[in-house]
Amino acid sequence: MADRYLSFASTRVGARLTRRLGLPSPVPLRRHRRGAPLVTGPVVVGSAERARAEGALREVLDAGGVTVDARSPRPAALLFDATGIASAAELDQLHAFFHPRLRRLAPHGRVVVLGTPPEDTARPAQAAAQRALEGFTRSLAKELRGGATAHLLLLEPGAERAESIESTVRFALSARSAYVSGQTLRLMAGAPDGPEVDWARPLAGRTALVTGAARGIGAATAEVLHRDGALVLCLDTPGQRDELRRVAARVGGVPIPLDLTSDEAPDQLLTQFFEASGSLDVLVHNAGITRDRTLARMPVDDWRAVLDVNLIAVERLTEALLPRLNHGGRIVCTSSISGLAGNMGQTNYAASKAGLIGLVEELAPIVIDRGITVNAVAPGFVKTRMTAAVPFLVRQAGRRLNSLGQGGQPVDVAEAVAYLAAPGTSAVSGQVLRVCGQALLGA
Ligand SMILES: NC(=O)c1ccc[n+]([C@@H]2O[C@H](COP(=O)([O-])OP(=O)(O)OC[C@H]3O[C@@H](n4cnc5c(N)ncnc54)[C@H](O)[C@@H]3O)[C@@H](O)[C@H]2O)c1
Repeated sequence: MADRYLSFASTRVGARLTRRLGLPSPVPLRRHRRGAPLVTGPVVVGSAERARAEGALREVLDAGGVTVDARSPRPAALLFDATGIASAAELDQLHAFFHPRLRRLAPHGRVVVLGTPPEDTARPAQAAAQRALEGFTRSLAKELRGGATAHLLLLEPGAERAESIESTVRFALSARSAYVSGQTLRLMAGAPDGPEVDWARPLAGRTALVTGAARGIGAATAEVLHRDGALVLCLDTPGQRDELRRVAARVGGVPIPLDLTSDEAPDQLLTQFFEASGSLDVLVHNAGITRDRTLARMPVDDWRAVLDVNLIAVERLTEALLPRLNHGGRIVCTSSISGLAGNMGQTNYAASKAGLIGLVEELAPIVIDRGITVNAVAPGFVKTRMTAAVPFLVRQAGRRLNSLGQGGQPVDVAEAVAYLAAPGTSAVSGQVLRVCGQALLGA
């Protein structure tokens, strides 16, 4: 499953050849290392007229030890506060800021644009200009090279506070978001102040349950949540008992062998869970299966098996555990870009993954008064045993057809889950974060 094309394209000869042939030129992404600085060099900050958030942005950068230097010859990031742009003509300010600087953006650089949700603006022209930021940022993300990424953060009026934006700005700037690009996230106003955050171990003292933790994305999530300080309850089927024990031992966590689709699962879990811990702060619904076939050829058992694990078990588990979730709790579901875009041979899978998005959107406002957030990650092509079963050519297409020209690693999804699970991410709820290198599918 090694990505030989990526290895070849990363050599000097390979890079030259792929460029000449007009083929994708992926570079190995820079991923988070313990103790690494937030960004690798100075950043440039700009703002349009009537910008609301530049002060908060500078406060966050300052707290993160980031140097702001407008004259940096090789900026590690370009950040632009466009919250005040009120007409199409004023969009010129985007061009004025980015055009002269883009060629100098450092490898693995970051672009972050701040905007206002169009529906929170006062006039149609202002809404149009703010909506334009989305097309701008998504396109810019597709133009960037060398592992660089771009994001748009929409700040509701009142969200222009360091506490509301810090966790998300940090994620967008850092190597934790290596395989996330072209995303728009909405940051709420009035998000409850999180506790004082230790950014090296934001989950210290918290308990997290990860389903499907024996391997793949679930195992990586258990590791990253443990790295961030959480006690991790690792759940997987009894058939995966040995792998599950190994993962749980690695992260100093608790193995819970349980088939989520069994009728007794919620009750059994409550018993075992309370024996193991007592309270829960983070619930990560990661377990999932595929049974791919076109609908005309799909037996009803395959249809039901996928909906049972991917959606019905998630609903039952959420219902059972919600009363036990602590104030400020976090629920993260694992959707898929197939759920957003649809995919041939995956009517069952895409239905289940789209259903999760419906669940997230409906549940989020219901639990927000308890400080609980509910979000989904939507991975693209990630190298795991699940995608090893995908036919070779489809796998190659899945890997290559995205702005970063490569597949993701389980840790990329795990980092996104950890960001959404962090106490500091209280301003983000009811949303879907794609972890797909800006895949063309459903873009
Ligand atoms: N790998 C990708 O490219 C990709 C893309 C989009 C979404 N996803 C989603 O990410 C999640 C993890 O995928 P992965 O690639 O790591 O898959 P994987 O097959 O490697 O791991 C899934 C885990 O879920 C467990 N599981 C399945 N049914 C279960 C049940 N009834 N009870 C308890 N555990 C159960 C499995 O035993 C397995 O350990 C899934 O929800 C998947 O749909 C993956």
